[in-house]
Amino acid sequence: MTKETHYTFAGHDTVALANTFGTPLYVMSEDMIRQRCRLIREGFLDKHPGSRAAYASKAFLSMGLCRIIEEEGFCLDVVSGGELFTALQAGFPMERVIFHGNNKSIEELKMAVKHNVGRIVIDHPEEIALLETIAAEAEQQVKIQIRIVPEVEGKTHKHIMTGQKDTKFGVPLAPSLIHGVVKEALESPHLELMGFHFHLGSNLFEQDIYVKAVERVMKLTKELKDSLGFVPKELNAGGGYGIRYREGDQVYPATYYTEVIMEAVKELSHEMSLQEPDVTIEPGRWIVGEAGITLYSVGAVKTIPGVRTYVSVDGGMPDNIRPALYGANYEAIVANKANELKTEVVTIAGKCCETGDILIWDQETPPLERGDILAVPSTGAYSDSMASNYNRLPRPAVVLLTGDEARLMVDRENYDDLLMRERRAANKK
Ligand code: LLP
Repeated sequence: MTKETHYTFAGHDTVALANTFGTPLYVMSEDMIRQRCRLIREGFLDKHPGSRAAYASKAFLSMGLCRIIEEEGFCLDVVSGGELFTALQAGFPMERVIFHGNNKSIEELKMAVKHNVGRIVIDHPEEIALLETIAAEAEQQVKIQIRIVPEVEGKTHKHIMTGQKDTKFGVPLAPSLIHGVVKEALESPHLELMGFHFHLGSNLFEQDIYVKAVERVMKLTKELKDSLGFVPKELNAGGGYGIRYREGDQVYPATYYTEVIMEAVKELSHEMSLQEPDVTIEPGRWIVGEAGITLYSVGAVKTIPGVRTYVSVDGGMPDNIRPALYGANYEAIVANKANELKTEVVTIAGKCCETGDILIWDQETPPLERGDILAVPSTGAYSDSMASNYNRLPRPAVVLLTGDEARLMVDRENYDDLLMRERRAANKK
C-alpha cells in the first residue's frame, strides 16, 4: 500500500503513527493548537487592550499542554485541585490561573490561595465567607470574580447547558441574592471583587445568547453602581464556542463570538455611562477540539444479515464517552484506505460490555477487515480528559505532533497502572 492512500493529519501519516505508537491513540497537533491561539490573539486580544484569553483546561490537560498555553500568553481556567496541581507541576504562572468550580473544597480553596492564583470565581453565596476566612488565615489578598446566572438558554445538549435559570452553577440573578453577595464581597477585607463571570454552555453556535448575557451583566452592573457605588473592572464571558465534528459541519471563527460580545460590552457601557470592563474569554473545545484525532484498530467485523454490520475497534466509550453521554456525532476515516470507494455502511462499536458503547452509527466506509486503522477527527477536546478505565481498559497514549516530529506526550496506561491504587492501599496496612 502506498503512502498516498493513507490519511494524513497535520502532515503525518496516521497509519505510521498507529504502527509506531499503537492504538487506541490520541494524536494532538501542537501546530494546530498554536494556530488557534494565534487566531484568538489576532482577532481578539490584539484588538482589545486589556482583554485576556484563558484556555479551559477541562477540555484537555497535560503538563506539556500547559507549557504551550503559557508560551502563547494565555491564561488557564482550572476547576479542581487536580487541574491546578497539573498547572503547578508544569510551572504555569499562577497569576494567570482562573479557578472555577461549583463546589470547591476547603482544601482546594486553600491550595488556590496558597499559590496565589490570579482569580477565584465565586460560584455560590456561601463561598464568599468561606474564602474570606481562608484568605484571612493565610494573610493574603485574593482577587475574585462572581459567576452569575444570566438566565439564557443556548441550543445544545441539556447536559452542557449552563446559562439557564435552573442550574447548579453560579449565583442566581435574584436581586435579594446577588446584591447581598456583591455587598458581602465588597465588605470582605481580604477579597477584591474584580467583576462578573458567566458561562452559557458548551458547543454553542448562536451569537444572540452571548449578547443577551452581556445585557444581563451590564444591567446588573448599572443597578450595583446605583445602589452600592461598585463598578466592576472585568467581565469574564466564559467559553462554549462550537467546533466542526464532521465534514459539512459549519465552522465558526472565534471572532464570530468575540465580536458580538465586544460590541455589546462597548455599546452598553457607553449607553449606561459605565466604565468599560476588560473582557476575558475562556474557550476550551475551540482551541484543542479539532487539533486532535483518535486512531483505532479494527478487530471483529460482524454482519447481521438484513440488519447491520458492526465493526468493533480496540477502544470506545472509555476513551470517548461523548457519543454515549451526549449522543455526539463523529465520523471515521479508514486511515489505510483513505482513497478507496466507500461502498459499505457500518456501525463503529467500542469494545466495552455495554450496548450503548457505539462510537458512530451508519458510517460509510470501504470494505473493512481486522487490522484496518480508523481515524476519528475532532477528538482533541473532552476525550482524554473524560476518559475512564471502564472494563479495565488502559487509557490511550497521547502523541504530540510538532512540525515533522511526533513524540509521546502522555504514555499509554498499562495493566500495572490499573492495580496501582490497590497496591498502594495494601502498602498502607
Ligand atoms: N468556562 C467555564 C466556566 C466552563 O465551565 C467551561 C466548560 C468552559 C469555560 C469551556 O467550554 P468550551 O469552550 O470547551 O465549550 N464535557 C462536555 C463539555 C463540558 C464543558 C464544561 N464547561 C462535552 O464533552 O461536550
